[in-house]
Amino acid sequence: MHVTTEQAETLILAAGGRETELDAAITDIGAKAVASLAAEELVFRGRLPSNKTLVHVQLDMLHDKETFTYTISVRAGEPVTLAEGKHDEAIFLLEFELAILVRSLYGAPREHSATAHRKRLLVERPTAKALYEGPLRGDWYSVGRAVDTVLSGCTAGPADLGELSVRHGTDKWGTWHWYTPHYERHLRGMRGEPVRILEIGIGGYNNPDLGGWSLKMWKAFFPRGLVTGLDVFAKHGLDEPRIRTVQGDQTDPGFLTSFGEQNGPFDVIVDDGSHVNEHIRTSFEALFRFVRPGGFYIIEDMWTAYCEKFGGSESAVSPPTTSVGMLQSLLDKLHYQERPGETGDGIAEQVVGVHVYHNIAFIEKGLNAEGGIAPSVSRFFESSPSTPQ
Ligand SMILES: C[S@@+](CC[C@H](N)C(=O)[O-])C[C@H]1O[C@@H](n2cnc3c(N)ncnc32)[C@H](O)[C@@H]1O
Repeated sequence: MHVTTEQAETLILAAGGRETELDAAITDIGAKAVASLAAEELVFRGRLPSNKTLVHVQLDMLHDKETFTYTISVRAGEPVTLAEGKHDEAIFLLEFELAILVRSLYGAPREHSATAHRKRLLVERPTAKALYEGPLRGDWYSVGRAVDTVLSGCTAGPADLGELSVRHGTDKWGTWHWYTPHYERHLRGMRGEPVRILEIGIGGYNNPDLGGWSLKMWKAFFPRGLVTGLDVFAKHGLDEPRIRTVQGDQTDPGFLTSFGEQNGPFDVIVDDGSHVNEHIRTSFEALFRFVRPGGFYIIEDMWTAYCEKFGGSESAVSPPTTSVGMLQSLLDKLHYQERPGETGDGIAEQVVGVHVYHNIAFIEKGLNAEGGIAPSVSRFFESSPSTPQ
């Protein structure tokens, strides 16, 4: 039983509000589905395990006299797994009120959250036999480490985007590209908000089961965010809570417009699709209006502006047909009010910043309406009286 993207959004917004709103949202969506979402989120967010011996941790979530039980199995070097129900060898119990767990996962971020759960060993007064001959074979350090991994899903501070990029397998940091510090610089401020992010290019090309690495990275970076991936190939197998995939072609302005009308506005749009220069321009022209004021439209892999195979050019000054040429023209659009009589073209009035780094650009959306330099300032050189005529 899974919650839909719309239900996840309702829950996230309610978790930032009053207790009654959150209780009503849990009742509407169904406590069982919410418990499954919370357990998945806890496991998704936890740090990488460091315990040598396999440890099963029982998670109980209480709501309205009902208990929803899951087992989280943790061992270093392996994916942490989540299964509904109890496990005979579970050694530790974590017990949460469901609403409190949801609030600590999706509520507005706090500097410090008080302990919000009960926790206990499932072995009462462990005997020497239980300690040294049971499945743990005396490795009690592993219990503490496994419990820390699980709890870090709702207590740890924000992880660095470079680390999240490497962890989820996208190439935005390390090896190929060096984008994540630039992303951190521009997106850090909205990290605790219920943002909507769209990335063009899910990855894996025509393999339906491959890709989604950066979508997972964004899900982890924005703990209250909803992530949409757009790809020319169908990728629905990669859908999961807070991640939705849509099939569509970034070269088709008609499709992009109706997609934006149905799914926008977005706080962030990232173009990591075909990297063909014409496609980059088409997508920007169609989708920039669906970025909300204060948000960013981001173009990756601008090296293709210099590569003919992608419609680029090796000339020293990039032509306007390339991504870099388009960015150069945006600098003129940013200053449109300084040209007398210029009224803007629909995009110029919405560009308030163009931040360009090696191979990646952040176009900042807002209201570009400060007005030009005062009319009293002369626009032309006037010779001073001492200047010979
Ligand atoms: C570089 S991969 C994306 C990697 C992913 N963003 C990541 O960082 O994990 C590029 C993706 O763009 C998709 N793509 C190529 N042409 C496209 C188009 N015209 N419209 C939409 N997606 C396209 C490809 O199918 C491929 O999956």
